[in-house]
Amino acid sequence: MKSSIATSQSRNVLNFRKPLTAQIECRDNLDFMRSLKKESMKLIVTSPPYNIGKDYEKRTSNEIYIEQQSLAIAEAVRLLHPEGSICWQVGNHVDDGEIFPLDILLYQKFKDLGLKLRNRIVWTFGHGLHCQKRFSGRHETILWFTKGDDYTFNLDPIRIPSKYPEKKHFKGPNKGKVSSNPLGKNPTDVWDIPNVKSNHVEKLDHPCQFPVGLVERLVLGLTNKGDNVLDPYLGVGSSAVAALKNGRHAYGCDIVRDYVDIAQERIEMLLDGSLRTRPMNKPVYQPPLRDEQ
Ligand SMILES: C[S@@+](CC[C@H](N)C(=O)[O-])C[C@H]1O[C@@H](n2cnc3c(N)ncnc32)[C@H](O)[C@@H]1O
Repeated sequence: MKSSIATSQSRNVLNFRKPLTAQIECRDNLDFMRSLKKESMKLIVTSPPYNIGKDYEKRTSNEIYIEQQSLAIAEAVRLLHPEGSICWQVGNHVDDGEIFPLDILLYQKFKDLGLKLRNRIVWTFGHGLHCQKRFSGRHETILWFTKGDDYTFNLDPIRIPSKYPEKKHFKGPNKGKVSSNPLGKNPTDVWDIPNVKSNHVEKLDHPCQFPVGLVERLVLGLTNKGDNVLDPYLGVGSSAVAALKNGRHAYGCDIVRDYVDIAQERIEMLLDGSLRTRPMNKPVYQPPLRDEQ
């Protein structure tokens, strides 16, 4: 992969020589996506702003927010390959203590464009705000849609270790033989992956990064080597890292120059072998149980 590193950099676009391409730009995503060829992306994986007033967004009404999201979704669908997938990762909009789950608000926008929901993945994590008048939120969701019924889904590269790998059939023609798949089991639609908070190995100067391992699972499961992966709200480039690390081409944009600069640095580090990421299937740390007295 090292041989594919860019030698030229202009307008914040990195152009890698074959076999891998990374087109990362500081640009509004509608503008960026309109410049790309229709049906060219096998996976569009992203986490948009939640309209909660983070530094990089302007808080607005939910109606306007959903209209803005609809425009980005429509452009993403135009770019989606017929066998491709869109994964829209969202949490809640919160207003005066009331929560508005964005997946519920956005689902119909994808359906109106003919997409089919394959999974509503629940991503659980351990860290976040401690709420006083409701239960503390410790999950968000990923809506995984496909354009058609004939879509890429590779289970083997994303299997996780079986709980009882030695378990055997106890009757029938396979009696005595190991019953579970030696490659592991389906990771299910509930993913327990640490979110990127202060002492996470991937933590950078961005308030809500994707863990690279989360995107890797989608990249490996929903694309093949050499496919194109796009993140239209790229932030500090976690999706691009996950794509390039696994031999896919990466496309992405963000409106904040500092984030794009960090994304480019991460890609350079990936290519020279110095980037550290949390391994995709590393188990979550469990504190030892204290004996109850
Ligand atoms: C939830 S963050 C995504 C973080 C990203 N997943 C990562 O791992 O770094 C949303 C990002 O969308 C960017 N953004 C907001 N509006 C945008 C627009 N119109 N076009 C491109 N990027 C935008 C913000 O600057 C922010 O970095």
